[in-house]
Amino acid sequence: MSFPALLADRAGLVQTRLDQALAGFGQEPVVEAMRYAVRGGKRLRGFLVLEGAALHGIDPAQAVSAAAAIECLHAYSLVHDDLPCMDDDALRRGQPTVHVKWDEATAVLAGDALQTLAFDLLCDPALGNAETRLRLVAGLAQASGAGGMVLGQALDMAAETATTPLNLDQIIRLQAGKTGALFEWSAQAGAVIAGADPAPLRQYATALGLAFQVADDILDVTGDAAKAGKRLGKDADAGKATFVSLLGLEGATQRAADLVAEAEAALAPYGDSARTLIEAARFVIARES
Ligand code: IPE
Ligand code: IPE
Ligand code: MG
Ligand code: MG
Ligand code: MG
Repeated sequence: MSFPALLADRAGLVQTRLDQALAGFGQEPVVEAMRYAVRGGKRLRGFLVLEGAALHGIDPAQAVSAAAAIECLHAYSLVHDDLPCMDDDALRRGQPTVHVKWDEATAVLAGDALQTLAFDLLCDPALGNAETRLRLVAGLAQASGAGGMVLGQALDMAAETATTPLNLDQIIRLQAGKTGALFEWSAQAGAVIAGADPAPLRQYATALGLAFQVADDILDVTGDAAKAGKRLGKDADAGKATFVSLLGLEGATQRAADLVAEAEAALAPYGDSARTLIEAARFVIARES
């Protein structure tokens, strides 16, 4: 199977699990907004969960609740990120954002409920015994909270009003939280489910997460908004320091390629069986959306 076909196949599995998880709720606006918010997207984080699991001989069907969990958590972060008090964006995944289609209160609450649904999904007995599930839960709580994604988002907001632009080390710290932490959890989840050493996958994901964010910054400058399905040019408009503003377009492109090479090198212990994860790393910097 080609990489795009495999990514689409895995995205289908994740969507089916999400539909199932949301089927038990009613038709209230907040629930419809949740269903809307989890639709679409590249499903990269879910893909990392399923491929990291496959690397340890775990069937996608066994790991899919963890893949759905991270996509819920990610969707929540996007719904809140787009709010008027944060990035104030009207378009996401080519569609009106949740607060535009419904209202702000619904967007806040749908995000909240997607976050708690993520942890509910991690309680699925298919993922392993109580200790394994607790490890997944604690790991996701740490990756998404005040030491992870929320911290990165807070640093990002603060940077918008700071008088001096951030330097490279500060940007790397910001991104490690904003984007890196969820990628790291995703790539390691399969090893956690299998009871294996997650260290090589963590190393892979640290480089991958940074490469993803360098590519996001490049896309913000060079991308096509129609293809990206979201507003671009925001970083320059906000006068924000990014990998592109600090390294230049060429320097950022080179940095992204170096990071992908680093990600690939981290997978050496797995040999050829890590092929799809290597392709995922290459995809992350070649993507147009
Ligand atoms: C976008 O993430 C937000 C960032 C962390 C920069 P993705 O590009 O993975 O978004 P979807 O899920 O594919 O829409
Ligand atoms: C969003 O980052 C990161 C999270 C939601 C954690 P951005 O604000 O840069 O992402 P886009 O550009 O809106 O997708
Ligand atoms: Mg933002
Ligand atoms: Mg944003
Ligand atoms: Mg961005």
